[in-house]
Amino acid sequence: MRLANAEFLKSAFKEADWPRDDRAEIAFLGRSNVGKSSLINSLLGVHGLARTSSTPGRTRAVNFFLINQQFRFVDLPGYGYARAPKASKKEWSAAAEEYLAKRKQLVLSIHLVDSRHEPTKQDLQLHEWLAYHQKPHLIVATKSDKLSNNELRKNVNRIRGAFGNDRVVAYSAITGSGRQDLWKEIEKALSPQSHS
Ligand code: GTP
Ligand code: MG
Repeated sequence: MRLANAEFLKSAFKEADWPRDDRAEIAFLGRSNVGKSSLINSLLGVHGLARTSSTPGRTRAVNFFLINQQFRFVDLPGYGYARAPKASKKEWSAAAEEYLAKRKQLVLSIHLVDSRHEPTKQDLQLHEWLAYHQKPHLIVATKSDKLSNNELRKNVNRIRGAFGNDRVVAYSAITGSGRQDLWKEIEKALSPQSHS
């Protein structure tokens, strides 16, 4: 993939605000604070395009980014932020769920989990939902720079086991490790053959 151009398109709180053309979309989902926005910036090599924060719950709306005028990245609100007020918790998950359930343009869901931790109940539920609804998906273990190679290998195996032996790609937004693997998967999902 030759990256010529990446731009923030819009933040949408409801379906009526989603882009209307039929460009393919790659969505990034996972717990609040797992590193979705950082991963998007790292993949695109643009600091600060997707807003990141050490405060969980930063991304509330569905954020669309246009890449090479050809396809879109979609940064979804994170789930599982314990201290969020009840009403906004509901609102966040509703926006993400509506997107996942309805979006025809979605060709790949990239599900992020923290490489340091056991998957949470919500991680497992989301994975089950994606599998049940036959949504093409890929698990990415984030923040791999925080572990030794040995620990990382062990944890990635454990995560793979917890998710029914699905493929897991380890990623670090700090070192860029895993970037090529992930781009390969994205290109595969975008190639016309995979849409049949
Ligand atoms: P929400 O928008 O709240 O759902 O969070 P998010 O999933 O978009 O997480 P975000 O990218 O904002 O990152 C959360 C925190 O984790 C920030 O402090 C990041 O700097 C840090 N972080 C993200 N990716 C990595 C990584 O690969 N390595 C390390 N060491 N820190 C990371
Ligand atoms: Mg975010």
